[in-house]
Amino acid sequence: MSGVRFRGRRLRRTPGLRALARETRLSPDQLIAPLFVSQLGPDRQNIPTLPGQSRWSPDHAAAAAAELFELGVGAVLLFGIPSWKDAEGSGAWMENGPVPQAIRAIRRRVPQLPVWADVCLCEYTDHGHCGVLRSGEVDNDATLPLLARAAVAYASAGADVVAPSDMMDGRVAEIRRALDQAGHSRVAIVSYAVKYASAFYGPFRDAAGSTPKSGDRCGYQMDPSNVREAVREARADVEEGADAVIVKPGMPCLDVIRAVREAVTVPVAAYQVSGEYAMLHAAAERGWIDLERAMQESAIGLRRAGADLLVTYFARVMAERMAESTREMAR
Ligand code: PBG
Repeated sequence: MSGVRFRGRRLRRTPGLRALARETRLSPDQLIAPLFVSQLGPDRQNIPTLPGQSRWSPDHAAAAAAELFELGVGAVLLFGIPSWKDAEGSGAWMENGPVPQAIRAIRRRVPQLPVWADVCLCEYTDHGHCGVLRSGEVDNDATLPLLARAAVAYASAGADVVAPSDMMDGRVAEIRRALDQAGHSRVAIVSYAVKYASAFYGPFRDAAGSTPKSGDRCGYQMDPSNVREAVREARADVEEGADAVIVKPGMPCLDVIRAVREAVTVPVAAYQVSGEYAMLHAAAERGWIDLERAMQESAIGLRRAGADLLVTYFARVMAERMAESTREMAR
């Protein structure tokens, strides 16, 4: 008789036993796939810094969305790349801008797929900041009505969810008021309540052409040193009317996701951002890590930290893998 009392290995012996002991699961309807929509250029243009991701024309975005829906992906999150920019970012609320066009095309083609529209000005301003500038600084209160206008434009086009990512104070309340006034009380707000001034947004900014021309976003995005502040931000957004909240980026913020999960009762999404995705691809290209396993492990880690939902550029591939393993089990 050996002296070993605890034998954790008993439930690791076979795939079947490991499945019984599994604490955290992921299904395709918990995944939200970001899509970039552009009215310029070809129907599909690959994004070099985000392998496997493209800028789509509105119609092709709808075709991509239909494929994601077939795979069971929970929602798409739309980002617009406008054909022109100005100081106010007025392209953000143009009825015929890339995002409203894509929303209408998706609505026609896959009416059951939830459509989320990111609300921010940085893709649409010529200076690249997320709000309007006054004496070189982003003016919070002057930005609020512009964000609200963009949110109403996306709701009018048929979005189910608007997702403000600008980090202005008070925007959730302002957007809620504007939506309700415009007759869109059914449209939900999923706010990026906790968004850090992160080094991991680089490939997104390449893809969307939204790198600030001067300065950085530290005056409005959060300091990565802080977690109590994240709880304050999340609670404030819920109080203002957020129906769910996003924590961003993902992997550097596992403790933040846990803290927010425990502080609010609404759904919490983690955004595995462009730099995280690009980093895994880059290391895998060099043969340093196994992309498939790293993708699965990073996703399950975000779920285990407390995220109910994942916004991830891996959504499509992960949903494909889940469909393959379901088919295998049926055999
Ligand atoms: C817009 C916005 C950004 C991202 C989502 N919404 C860029 C930024 O804040 O610079 C980043 C997403 C990603 O990196 O995948 N404000």
